[in-house]
Amino acid sequence: MSSIVDEIKNRCNIVDVIGRYVSLKRSGSGYMGLCPFHGEKTPSFSVSEQKQFYYCFGCGQSGDVIRFVEKIENVDFMTAVRRLSEQYGINMDDYGFRHEGRNSAIYEMNRIAALFYLHQLADRPNPGRDYIMGRGLDLKTITRFGIGYAPDGWHSLLEHMTAKGYEPAQLVRAGLISSSGGRYYDKFRDRVMFPIINTRGKVIGFGGRILSDGQPKYLNTPESPVFSKRNHLFGLNLTRKHIAEQDAAIIVEGYMDMVSLYQHGITNVVATLGTALTTNQCNILSRYTRNVILSYDADQAGRNAALRGLEVIRTAGLNARVLHVTDGKDPDEYVRKYGRDAFLELTRQALPYADYRLAHVRALYDLSTQQGRIEYIKAAAAVIRDLDPLEAEFYLKQVAEKEGIPEGALRREIAVRPSENRRRTTTGEPLNPDRSVPVQGTAGTGVQKTLIGLILKNPDLIPSTMKYAYVFTDPAYYRIAGVLFQMYTEEGRLDLIQAADTLSAEDAALLMSLSDSEVYQHDTEKLWKECTGRIKISELKRKHRDLENILELLPENDDRTVEIMNQLREIDASVLRLKNDPGSE
Ligand code: GTP
Ligand code: MN
Repeated sequence: MSSIVDEIKNRCNIVDVIGRYVSLKRSGSGYMGLCPFHGEKTPSFSVSEQKQFYYCFGCGQSGDVIRFVEKIENVDFMTAVRRLSEQYGINMDDYGFRHEGRNSAIYEMNRIAALFYLHQLADRPNPGRDYIMGRGLDLKTITRFGIGYAPDGWHSLLEHMTAKGYEPAQLVRAGLISSSGGRYYDKFRDRVMFPIINTRGKVIGFGGRILSDGQPKYLNTPESPVFSKRNHLFGLNLTRKHIAEQDAAIIVEGYMDMVSLYQHGITNVVATLGTALTTNQCNILSRYTRNVILSYDADQAGRNAALRGLEVIRTAGLNARVLHVTDGKDPDEYVRKYGRDAFLELTRQALPYADYRLAHVRALYDLSTQQGRIEYIKAAAAVIRDLDPLEAEFYLKQVAEKEGIPEGALRREIAVRPSENRRRTTTGEPLNPDRSVPVQGTAGTGVQKTLIGLILKNPDLIPSTMKYAYVFTDPAYYRIAGVLFQMYTEEGRLDLIQAADTLSAEDAALLMSLSDSEVYQHDTEKLWKECTGRIKISELKRKHRDLENILELLPENDDRTVEIMNQLREIDASVLRLKNDPGSE
């Protein structure tokens, strides 16, 4: 991992890269320009060519070329590395990205298939186009999403792909072709095809909508190394800019909901791919916003999904709100009937986490009876207990006043049992770390491997390990850690077989080999402390380097010099303490 980072820094001049976004003027030994990260009229954004480092005197943002790309393009570390590598002709396969190399054939087959479906829909009259336009989508939207049509025959795609030189067995691996008794045939037939595209613009799979009332209504690409439903959000490739700009994401359940809202000008939307919302999906969203609005169907299934989704979002450290469309089955029907403004009004009225849960329990009891009121107080207390102390105080007063319950009674009820969830949330640390601040080049796969080995031996280390989730920069370890973290968060335990099931064959084999290793049998906590101690030291060293760079950029006699010198001294002292005792900081 570190070698590709080095190679990028060897090849990309930070002044050239930043120069594409910011007009830079020479100033002293470096360059100055208007900061792209905060609004300003006089330049306080400095770039040092010598240090290959940027720093804004106004808003304090700083970093190297990779960090700049992450921030400006709103992408994660890996994506920034990949973009720069592509732009500067660095072959990532030379640097240990095996998976990508092998997967690229699947991406290519998917891309060609997507184009095929698209032409089937666009070039001549066909039932797919009639169907999808009948559902109110216009050509602009159809094109923007690349929606296509899989013809009714058994071999349309198969013939198209084999003519391009692909072997049937390869196409089966991509999930485009099925086989049975030695015969091959198109998996998707007579369906409207929604290509699922990742944020790097690669077609990772498809969702195919049947044109009639048959079953299954939606047929998806099977899970594979490139297509994992729980790790992707439909539409994010088009909407992440809007999500970041509006600082909020609306999550819907269906492809059609997503596309339809988008067509009506509500562009900060994504859809889950027919699975319950996962922690990984929240982590992905957290790169763009911390505010999430669940917009699920109004039926019982939708309400249950919202309650579960709320917990997942909250555990991921994001702010959650919920809206249910009041009229019409789902967001698609609602927005078609009442339009953009009406839907936006619903998003404004979406209930925050606590209000939604309180409203939910309130509806369960008959408050006109004594028994009902007692039950309700208990249930409301259980909800309030899970909140942060400040929030809890606010809702306690609100509920007491609104329902005419003595505040003391509610307070006593809340104090009865220590909260299960409190333990998770009041550490002050959101469970999921900010992935935009990876330890660059410092966390070798050694650390990643050791940490996963340790949590497999002692799953109770997981909550504290999640604070260090940013070290999992290797793609395979990243996926494995994600699955383990989520499983533990949701179920409070690890089941190796189940975890392996959700991973690709290769990742599963890696997971199994890690769980087999003998090395970690003994004192897991001590090893864990040593390991995280090393991570903390590299993180501190990185901070140290940044501060030194800033120091050099500051004008002489600047007020901030002393403060930065003090910070540097503190960092040195912490590093020393950590070296003596890895668990000390
Ligand atoms: P439309 O009827 O086309 O408007 O679909 P919808 O989005 O309203 O569908 P629904 O609310 O029934 O389902 C929501 C999402 O669940 C869909 O977008 C799919 O991702 C998924 N889904 C629905 N039906 C199926 C199915 O039969 N199989 C699979 N694998 N997924 C499904
Ligand atoms: Mn629908």
